Amino acid sequence: MGSVKRRVAKDVNELFGLAARHIAAAAISSVNERGRFVLALSGGSTPRGVYRFLATLDMPWPAVHLFWGDERCVPPNHQDSNYRMVRESLLDEIKIPKENVHRIMGELDPPEAARVCAEEIQAVFKSPTSEFPLFDLILLGMGPDGHTASLFPGTAALNEASGWVVANEVPQLNTRRITFTFPLINAAREVMFLVAGSEKADVLGKVMEGDPAYPSSLVRPKGDLLWFLDRGSGSGLGKEPDEKS
Ligand code: 6PG
Repeated sequence: MGSVKRRVAKDVNELFGLAARHIAAAAISSVNERGRFVLALSGGSTPRGVYRFLATLDMPWPAVHLFWGDERCVPPNHQDSNYRMVRESLLDEIKIPKENVHRIMGELDPPEAARVCAEEIQAVFKSPTSEFPLFDLILLGMGPDGHTASLFPGTAALNEASGWVVANEVPQLNTRRITFTFPLINAAREVMFLVAGSEKADVLGKVMEGDPAYPSSLVRPKGDLLWFLDRGSGSGLGKEPDEKS
């Protein structure tokens, strides 16, 4: 694994700005080095503020490819759709070629949606299926149970070792989800977690200690791992030598 760094913001608004500016800087650096920026977005609700801020920044959108790290099994205009959340907070505000927006088709049968998403990833990276593609940046959230993307405690997808995107039964939510797998996430050049709220502080401490009972602990990218926290979520953590806040 590359370096592990934390940024602790004083509140969520500062957190949104820090995270959005980091994404924009990563995009500019990636386009300069490799001619494009392949980014996987997180779902949930916290990232909404990051995406709104990102929409105001100078981004090389024509050279950006957007994927989603997971999706609910609903149509794109459903209130639970991660695509809809990103469309409302970001896509409706920017000019990005529509062929660069690779939503997970939650309206399809979940295994078919996972297959189509993996095909789109392969088409962008043009990499053989035997090698995990290297996303430039994967943005993740963390739930109060330590889940990330749709990799929930005790679910089958936690053990997926070869697939890039899978359908995952989530009994605790009585639903199915489509999600990136750990090997795909861990192949990334950089992974950034966005975690806010004191209700996540205890679990975050366990994740930082590497407790495998909490799936976010299993995110150990070949590249760098960055934690973007607020004072609530980071309240249980000691200061790190390189921690900037
Ligand atoms: C989803 C997300 C999920 C999310 C966490 C945290 O589809 O819900 O991908 O993994 O990141 O549940 O969500 P919040 O940051 O909104 O608490």
